[in-house]
Amino acid sequence: MSLTIYLDNAATERYVPTEVMRAYVEAVNRKANASRGAHRDGVWLGLQIYRVREEIKAMLDYPDAEVVFTKNCTEALNLAIRSVSAGAHVITAVTEHNSVLRPLHEMQRRGKITLDVVSPERPRGVGAEEIRRALRPNTALVVLSQVGNVTGIRNDVEAVGELLSGRGIPFLVDGAQSVGHGAVSMRRIGCDMLAAPAHKGLHGLQGVGFLVFNKRLKIKPLLYGGTGTDSVNVYQPLSYPEGLEAGTLDGAGICALGAAIRWTQTHLDRIERRETQYAARLAESLGDIEGVRVWLGASGIVAVHRAGLSSAYVADKLNEASIAVRAGLHCAPLMHRHLGTTAEGVVRFSAGYANRLWEIERVAEVVRRIVSRQNLS
Ligand code: ALA
Repeated sequence: MSLTIYLDNAATERYVPTEVMRAYVEAVNRKANASRGAHRDGVWLGLQIYRVREEIKAMLDYPDAEVVFTKNCTEALNLAIRSVSAGAHVITAVTEHNSVLRPLHEMQRRGKITLDVVSPERPRGVGAEEIRRALRPNTALVVLSQVGNVTGIRNDVEAVGELLSGRGIPFLVDGAQSVGHGAVSMRRIGCDMLAAPAHKGLHGLQGVGFLVFNKRLKIKPLLYGGTGTDSVNVYQPLSYPEGLEAGTLDGAGICALGAAIRWTQTHLDRIERRETQYAARLAESLGDIEGVRVWLGASGIVAVHRAGLSSAYVADKLNEASIAVRAGLHCAPLMHRHLGTTAEGVVRFSAGYANRLWEIERVAEVVRRIVSRQNLS
């Protein structure tokens, strides 16, 4: 294990519980194809995958759902977004990641949809009012993150869910920066679809994501191919979940995700407490540096900006001091435009379960030194 102080958990959570590694290794040792051959290890893997689907539904408090596995959260979001019918109007927000903005803008460019991108009324995130003002008679989808990835801004997804469920408009929540950082209930939010990755808050591995959605929605496949079912048919079966999961799944990664969900659910209070404490401490320590803007967000995220000082420069200096962060635009160009931080980007610190308070104190000291040394006026 390296001695890096790792504060890039919003990109990829660093800590992998032993249980997760064990589950991964067990699945590798029994490596087989789920839902293809009827032999012992194929059936075993099929049952494990079934169990993980059930665990995801229980974790998100959405029992009457379908769970489709993808290779990451981006693919899960694309699956939902690209199912929108031609002629639809879609609403999203500047808080969103390119995994939402790019498929939507591409569909808009091709004339398939019309699109409105709303801005939050600062400093809080997007709420029902912003969405209500953008609604049209043909609005067929609203897409919002529960927590934005640049500053950790929290959109009021519960208020938006209440607004939309009364109108029967499908609501897709990007849970990339919220799932695993605290309890998330799709029923309480009032959303119909939620996408999340394994490798962030859930402490799983890279290579697996999932879309959870209400069974009554029509989700169209992104990939066409073998499902292990209805094989006489040369057309893609429309049954869920296999019709949306063509090809071999990352069986070991999904088994690891199951163990990761169990571990994360057991440690949820501690995870939330630590992330909140570390982020608050860091924001407090950096808050009084002249000319520096600091955002304290949810899920352990703190973002820092100083006009005229490149965030990439600061991140390089931090890297030299063995401190890992993410600088730049974080694949969220509209949020940076909204904040006025496009030129320099921001330095994003994201705490995780395995960080310690001494690391936060050390990082605050190094950042203060780097930022204060720059005479920019
Ligand atoms: N979406 C990830 C991030 O915010 C990669 O860093």
